[in-house]
Amino acid sequence: MTRQHLTGKVALITGAARGIGRAIAISAAQAGADVALLDIAAPVAPDEFATPSTPDDLAAVRDTISALGRRTAVFTVDVRHPDAMREAVRDAVDRLGGLHLVAINAGVAGWVPLSDMTPQQWQTVIDVNLTGAFHTLSAVTPYLTTNGQGRIVAISSLAGRRGMENLAHYAASKWGLIGLVKSAALELGPHGVTVNAVAPTLVDTNTAPEIPSPDLPASHGDAMPHAPAHALPVTTVAVDDVAEAVMFLFSDNARHISGAVLDITAGASGTWTA
Ligand SMILES: NC(=O)c1ccc[n+]([C@@H]2O[C@H](COP(=O)([O-])OP(=O)(O)OC[C@H]3O[C@@H](n4cnc5c(N)ncnc54)[C@H](O)[C@@H]3O)[C@@H](O)[C@H]2O)c1
Repeated sequence: MTRQHLTGKVALITGAARGIGRAIAISAAQAGADVALLDIAAPVAPDEFATPSTPDDLAAVRDTISALGRRTAVFTVDVRHPDAMREAVRDAVDRLGGLHLVAINAGVAGWVPLSDMTPQQWQTVIDVNLTGAFHTLSAVTPYLTTNGQGRIVAISSLAGRRGMENLAHYAASKWGLIGLVKSAALELGPHGVTVNAVAPTLVDTNTAPEIPSPDLPASHGDAMPHAPAHALPVTTVAVDDVAEAVMFLFSDNARHISGAVLDITAGASGTWTA
């Protein structure tokens, strides 16, 4: 990959206000892309236990990208609302002049045993992580297929590759996301569009929903999943490890990779059966 390998491209990132989405957005801009930044920038659910991202977080990402000399379009939008997503994507294409690269990243988590999991907790995680990914995919696909080229990368998880205790809703959403990615790869391949997933282990985001945080109510402590067994001597990976994997899948070097899942698990993938 050259330094400016995404020059002339427009990228769209959901969940761009912070964490992994922020890192992907900034990496894409550093590689030369103009970037549409989408985020709810508000609480996702009444019982959400991660601190919500804010309009200021989103504006800070916009300012960082503007300082790099790239154009941005910013949308406060909830991926659970298909009409709002279609409108935001249409507006992004109008303002930035096209669409080539998409990171389906917005997501929520929360650890709770199945015996205590409420229908609302289940529904929120499935609605954001899986149905929201479908809404994003549906909104962007017409533009990518019209181009006859495009890249979609969804952020799954180590929890999309194995079971995780006390994260059943999250694991189900991230396994489902991989099913969505693989099916979309088959349908969109004939139109020149690649669709892949990355599956990170715990990511050091400071605000990471999968990482124990001082923000977490004490009641969640017992339900926390066990840390995955990494072969490499690290407890987490960095947001830039994930962003770099996405930049590779966005690049021309990955033009013949589609329907794949790229694990970023510090070797925990060695425990998968296949
Ligand atoms: N952090 C980890 O350890 C880790 C590991 C594997 C996978 N992931 C996945 O990576 C993605 C990003 O995680 P993160 O750690 O950066 O989380 P984060 O909470 O720091 O950021 C997620 C962003 O998504 C936004 N978002 C949430 N729901 C939304 C909605 N309905 N509509 C629009 N935006 C919404 C939030 O406002 C937030 O800005 C998620 O899909 C997560 O499941 C995270």
